[in-house]
Amino acid sequence: MIDRRTLVLTGLASLALAGRASAEDHPVMVVYKSPTCGCCGAWIEHVEAAGFRVAVRNMPDVVPVKTEFGVPQALWSCHTARIGDYTIEGHVPAEDVLRMLETRPQIAGIAVPGMPAGSPGMEVPGYSEPYDVYVFSGDNLSVFASHGG
Ligand code: CU
Ligand code: CU
Repeated sequence: MIDRRTLVLTGLASLALAGRASAEDHPVMVVYKSPTCGCCGAWIEHVEAAGFRVAVRNMPDVVPVKTEFGVPQALWSCHTARIGDYTIEGHVPAEDVLRMLETRPQIAGIAVPGMPAGSPGMEVPGYSEPYDVYVFSGDNLSVFASHGG
């Protein structure tokens, strides 16, 4: 028998579940990468482990994709990804991708330029360096998150 108190608790529990961020609920992420890039594969494993669904597009030269989606050259890394209307450049942690998708800022995307040691997919035993995740929108850059060090 269900009393009023149980109904209230059930309602609260479903509210809590509805508010929780889940990578599976977002569109498939398309990752553009060179077929020979090992760290790109390691980053894909990282976002898949976080729950993202990924489609891989291998190509010898990823630069045209970066240009098409307006990634400023100063932020270029190895792979470029798209999810919905957002672009993700380089070894961005899945938690930052998720935060962008949940907060829906009016930006083109986020990026980790270069390939900092210790970023997801760039793990080096016993060593990591501090790095920033940048927001880009046109030529405007700002810091979205800071990690490591
Ligand atoms: Cu890489
Ligand atoms: Cu890569």
